[in-house]
Amino acid sequence: MISKNTKIYIAGHRGMVGSAIWRALESQGYSNLIGKTSKELDLRNQQAVQDFFKNEKPEVVIDAAARVGGILANNEYPYQFLMENMQIQNNLIDTAFHAGINKFIFLGSSCIYPKMAPQPLKEDYLLTGPLEPTNEWYAVAKITGVKACEAIRKQFGRDYVSLMPTNLYGPYDNFDLKTSHVLPAMIRKFHEASQFAVGSEQLAVGSEQLPVGGVDSKSEHVPVTLWGSGAPMREFLYVEDLAEAVVFALENEFKDNLYNVGTGQDLTIRELAELIQKIVGHKGEIIWDSSKPDGTPRKLMDVSKMADAGWKAKTSLEDGIKKTYQWFLENQDTFKQVKI
Ligand SMILES: NC(=O)c1ccc[n+]([C@@H]2O[C@H](COP(=O)([O-])OP(=O)(O)OC[C@H]3O[C@@H](n4cnc5c(N)ncnc54)[C@H](OP(=O)(O)O)[C@@H]3O)[C@@H](O)[C@H]2O)c1
Repeated sequence: MISKNTKIYIAGHRGMVGSAIWRALESQGYSNLIGKTSKELDLRNQQAVQDFFKNEKPEVVIDAAARVGGILANNEYPYQFLMENMQIQNNLIDTAFHAGINKFIFLGSSCIYPKMAPQPLKEDYLLTGPLEPTNEWYAVAKITGVKACEAIRKQFGRDYVSLMPTNLYGPYDNFDLKTSHVLPAMIRKFHEASQFAVGSEQLAVGSEQLPVGGVDSKSEHVPVTLWGSGAPMREFLYVEDLAEAVVFALENEFKDNLYNVGTGQDLTIRELAELIQKIVGHKGEIIWDSSKPDGTPRKLMDVSKMADAGWKAKTSLEDGIKKTYQWFLENQDTFKQVKI
């Protein structure tokens, strides 16, 4: 049984997801948490993982460790995305299994579902069609993790569960414009554009080139250039809500092996940009660079299974973005300065 003194190992505890889970557990009074950096414990190394489990004897494992990255990184390093993620999760799942651990929470992502699956995405759509080619290496690795947990549940009746979060955002997100996801990238671009009035030397944020048509002279701030048409629809979950879902999964036994975690609500990228613009206080033009690709038209999770189990997200997108922007303001000095 889980108690506040249960020894819980959070793999990837310094990442955006792992650190949010750590904070959520601490704030709920869990006092026996363990975490190791990748330098201290390389999860690709099976022997090191086995030694760690033997010495530390964790009672529960939460797997938020992964090699993550965008389309470019997936494209350039397919072997690492496939193999390193399989190594990390296989070492954790198999060592936990042989150590007799009864509770394991595995985190994946919505990219495990087929590219052309109907929307909203239900858990049942897993393995019903081809994957999105740009991240199939990562997705295949994650699918094997889901299946390993499912096999342990089916064969041995242990509570090994997989949670699949939608797009996440929040404190400790990646705000590096070269590698960041859409939401933190927008926060940074609107913030930096709001630091320059039109007429200053800065001409536009987010574009290597000057915006076509020049700077709008009526705008107070320099314009922001964003990728695509703004039409695709996306769902976003505040990472601290995901952390609460993980605490919920820790404290409750799930009947099944795979659960989507999201808000069940989406909006267009254009609506997202306008919301962030309002929160940041940027007063200027948004330029949509339609020479850049839009990606999948819609990606929304069906979250009814998790709701039936008793959990729902509670942070509104507006509140989540306000909190994330506040965190960004307090921590921006630590980010690498990039050319804007
Ligand atoms: N971010 C999102 O929008 C999103 C959405 C859906 C799902 N997820 C899932 O959430 C999980 C965590 O993502 P994240 O955004 O928190 O990523 P992140 O910030 O990059 O964190 C990844 C963590 O994994 C650890 N790690 C990577 N390779 C390792 C290795 N070889 N040995 C030991 N530790 C290693 C890193 O440890 P060090 O820091 O010590 O190097 C880091 O703490 C992933 O499974 C991801 O698929 C994320």
